[in-house]
Amino acid sequence: MCGIVGYVGDKDAYPLLINGLKRLEYRGYDSAGVALIGSQGLRIHKCQGKVSDLEAHMRDVDRSGNVGIGHTRWATHGAPNDVNAHPHVSTSGDLALIHNGIIENYAPLKEELRSRGHTFRSETDTEVLVNLIEDIQRSEEVDLPEAVRLALENVVGAYAIAVIDRKSPGMLVAARKSSPLVIGIGEHGEHYLASDATPIVEHTKNVVYMEDGEIAIIDRTKGLKIRNVKNQEKTPFIQALEMHLETLEKGGYDHFMLKEIHEQPRSIRDSMRGRLNLAQGEVVLGGIKDYEQKFVNAKRILILGCGTSWHAGLVGEYLFEELARIPVEVEYASEFRYRNPIIHEDDIVIAISQSGETADTLAAIELAKGRGATIIGICNVVGSSIPRVTHAGSYTHAGPEIGVASTKAFTAQVTVLTLMALMVGHKKGTISGSRFHRLLNELDAIPSKVEQVLKNEAQIKYIADIYKNATNALYLGRGYTFPVALEGALKLKEISYIHAEGYPAAEMKHGPIALIDEEMPVFVIATKGASYEKVVSNIQEVKARKGKVIAIVTEGDTVVKGLADHAIAIPETPDALVPLLSVVPMQLISYHIAVMLGRNVDQPRNLAKSVTVE
Ligand code: AGP
Ligand code: GLU
Repeated sequence: MCGIVGYVGDKDAYPLLINGLKRLEYRGYDSAGVALIGSQGLRIHKCQGKVSDLEAHMRDVDRSGNVGIGHTRWATHGAPNDVNAHPHVSTSGDLALIHNGIIENYAPLKEELRSRGHTFRSETDTEVLVNLIEDIQRSEEVDLPEAVRLALENVVGAYAIAVIDRKSPGMLVAARKSSPLVIGIGEHGEHYLASDATPIVEHTKNVVYMEDGEIAIIDRTKGLKIRNVKNQEKTPFIQALEMHLETLEKGGYDHFMLKEIHEQPRSIRDSMRGRLNLAQGEVVLGGIKDYEQKFVNAKRILILGCGTSWHAGLVGEYLFEELARIPVEVEYASEFRYRNPIIHEDDIVIAISQSGETADTLAAIELAKGRGATIIGICNVVGSSIPRVTHAGSYTHAGPEIGVASTKAFTAQVTVLTLMALMVGHKKGTISGSRFHRLLNELDAIPSKVEQVLKNEAQIKYIADIYKNATNALYLGRGYTFPVALEGALKLKEISYIHAEGYPAAEMKHGPIALIDEEMPVFVIATKGASYEKVVSNIQEVKARKGKVIAIVTEGDTVVKGLADHAIAIPETPDALVPLLSVVPMQLISYHIAVMLGRNVDQPRNLAKSVTVE
């Protein structure tokens, strides 16, 4: 995590850096800092807290300089305080460095550098790297880019770094391995650097996505040069950014999360656009066209992801097994990577990630790829790391998701998984033509049905007000809606800090039922479908123990309405598509409870949007 920005050009760097940091704050918000080089030399300003705290601190200081770097931190090594905030400065005070990632061998390096006279103020791994660069610069008598290159040869871990040197005031050196970096090339020879393209889009559409092992040397007069670890020069591959500024702003909503929940009719539609062809009665997923046959022949599908993406993967399991009759295993990427998993060459691995940067998912992909599996990505951020290491994939096209709690990315992931399973099932002949066409039509109707669900917001807010002071909550679902129960519980936990658990409805009687009393809200997805009657019995069981039931029901349902304390109606749709509708009230409940409790909805404590460290 951590967000990195940099600027080299003729303009004042500070406003560009601070605005860039605001865009990247979703990556971490433990502390923020900038380093500027101008006529006053090198100046560092940093403090614990948000970018707005840094901005307040900067009001009374000299902010001039045409070269600068900025950082917003999610702490891995050392508490979130002023001293551990980035930029970190070398012992002589000449170098300033920002870092996203972890230097795993920082402890022995620190000892060695200490014995060579370097001093350390912070507890971070980052401060070791800036001193290592300085040490090499001096002992080898090399320039900054070469010192960075040599230092990185000695480093084990993951990093995106940017470093500036008081003695080379027009230069910024950046490098990456496993953490993302993008360079924007401005019209007037200026350059922007950032962890993702969001701080860059308002300045230029011409970008270079750095590759692992590359070092970028950005010079005010000589422009941009890229070298690889072997010191060979590479021609920068300039791409046009497809991102619009409006998508990065709140557009009248109080929070990004609320905006993103309300965007779902559009984001689901965009995830289907050009793929679901009702007229021809087919699903075309251009990105995986060459792998269709491999899917048809696959003996097994492994789905990898973390958090919400893992929940989407669980929905994918039900979809692929039912529609395409392929056995599926869904794995937490973090567990998978440290087992000795059995992988066959005819396995297909689907890796799901909103950010495309999750370190555990990336490592799991590398492992599966190394053992010969075909890797298909389902990612949202175009040009991010995961789509670049997969064999093929389908982007979700949900647009930038800024709220730390994932909402529209989940429904977009489930939409793409549904399209994939339908495509494979149709090709394999495991679903009848009539069922295929019915599901295509039903899927096409989902965006307008989500719009209908969103119209229940006032009722959901009313329910949120009743249960906002609960200390625990249970979420129950069965079949396709079990993953939705998990997702509902995760949403409540992460933004309201209320403890919540998701369970398969029938599992309740094997333990969690002991928790139920009149204080316990139980959210139950009880829509009409295969397990409706069974879930109705579970609701009876909760009511018999005086639990409070908030049920998601199919429009027109009277049975559950009569039993539950509250019933939120969603339009009728086949079981396979219910997750796309039933998750929306879950998202809204969590959102409103968190707002009512005064939580920081878009930036919940201890979290960050993309988890680029283990
Ligand atoms: C979701 O609300 C979470 N903040 C988190 O669980 C997230 O889904 C997880 O970190 C995976 O991220 P990714 O989709 O970007 O890989
Ligand atoms: N390891 C660095 C720190 O603790 C960077 C952390 C990160 O990128 O999340 O400050």
